[in-house]
Amino acid sequence: MTRYVGAIDQGTTSSRFIVFDRAGRIVASRQREHAQVYPRPGHVEHDPAEIWRNVQAVMAEALESAGLAPADLLSIGITNQRETTVIWDRRTGAPLHNALVWQDTRNDRLVAAYAGDGGRDRFRARTGLPLASYFSGLKLRWLLDHVDGAREKAEAGDVLFGNIDSWLVWNLTGGPEGGLHLTDATNASRTQLMDLETLAWDAGMLSAFGIPRAMLPAIVSSSQVYGETRVPFAGVPIAGILGDQQAALFGQTCFRPGEAKNTYGTGCFALMNTGSTPVPSACGLVTTLAYKLDGQPAAYALEGSIAITGALVQWLRDNLRMIQDSAEVERLATTVADNGGVYFVPAFSGLYAPHWNEGARGLIIGLTRYANRGHIARACLEATAFQTHEVLEAMEKDSGIAVRELRSDGGMVANDTLMQFQADILDVPVVRPRVTETTALGAAYAAGLATGYWRGTDDLVRNWGIDRRWEPNMDAAERRRITATWGRAVQRAVDWDE
Ligand code: G3P
Repeated sequence: MTRYVGAIDQGTTSSRFIVFDRAGRIVASRQREHAQVYPRPGHVEHDPAEIWRNVQAVMAEALESAGLAPADLLSIGITNQRETTVIWDRRTGAPLHNALVWQDTRNDRLVAAYAGDGGRDRFRARTGLPLASYFSGLKLRWLLDHVDGAREKAEAGDVLFGNIDSWLVWNLTGGPEGGLHLTDATNASRTQLMDLETLAWDAGMLSAFGIPRAMLPAIVSSSQVYGETRVPFAGVPIAGILGDQQAALFGQTCFRPGEAKNTYGTGCFALMNTGSTPVPSACGLVTTLAYKLDGQPAAYALEGSIAITGALVQWLRDNLRMIQDSAEVERLATTVADNGGVYFVPAFSGLYAPHWNEGARGLIIGLTRYANRGHIARACLEATAFQTHEVLEAMEKDSGIAVRELRSDGGMVANDTLMQFQADILDVPVVRPRVTETTALGAAYAAGLATGYWRGTDDLVRNWGIDRRWEPNMDAAERRRITATWGRAVQRAVDWDE
């Protein structure tokens, strides 16, 4: 009997279930979007119960669409939007609050208070992370401070914390009836509560942030059999968990130090494998866990996290109604020869790497009577490439390794204009693999390695192949000129801080 490996990909805007065969090809796939809740400026929430319903639905629908039964799945991997923070009642399974999404900045005053007392980088050596609204630890602290009774119940072990991976595993394995409460080390590395070297919760961080240990999940490897599903169908081993950006690195088979990928989604997340020791960042990147295979040393990565890239296109569509669908931005951008001097800095959640500034706000600058919709659309696409350039530059400085090619994936890689401009601005080739669903693929790989579907990472490297390659083709002086102008626009967005 032919068997497959499934992957739950629970992202910022949707949940998917994708079934892969041994060659890494997609056999079945289903997707459902969930509501984005914006109660006020800077607040971004998801309903965890809706996410869990959608995950169950897409699992069943994907199997049905291909005439598969649960028994056709050898194992399942999970990959998830990282940092998004859920607290729930251990007895009923009910969330105590909507999830605080990674983009949410409501804890900014907490961040400022901690940073005011020792600087933004005071926990970097231990956790790899700067103080920022982005990471889960201070989101969790906000919830404990603001949700009635949460802290007392958490101290008594009656309220559990998890990122979306933990929330899903707990529900998949039975919820209140014995659900497993765990997280993999890549997700744990985004909480700012884990020691990056020992891969254990750090007592000093828990006490600094005031987090009760009783509510935390167990930290496990990214690839091992954790348990079996009980819901929505029984008996399939869950055998891989990776945060979604780490999963994409894994799916792109960046197993050697120096290999790097960039995922062009809601935000952009560029990760470079730096090998088995964490590389501290002096240039505003994040040091993070790349993956931890069972029984093997951990692999680390440097990450440039950018909050708003594809989300800017959605903003043009939903908030300004300038385009009908996301693909239209490319058509509009190609109606003009260049950006006409217009730059768009999408600092909607402040700016993440390499600036880490909560107070920065978005701006469009360089407008004249000449500028039209095409220039705005172009500036919107270029913002993605300029932000990626900033983080790759930082990556080369921090690691001392020159990126030789950038493996790209995510929704925006369908945009040829963007990919060419990206290669031009980086002065490095950009490549798109044959399977661009690298996030789900990475989670499937982690699960399949743990259950013998693939024998080792060499099998995975053989599955990877290039679909298209963009070579840089821009005059060096022009590249320098426009990246410098971008830098000046960013400085103004930072200076806006009220
Ligand atoms: O750190 C946030 C990241 O994991 C979100 O990724 O693809 O769900 O927008 P995505």
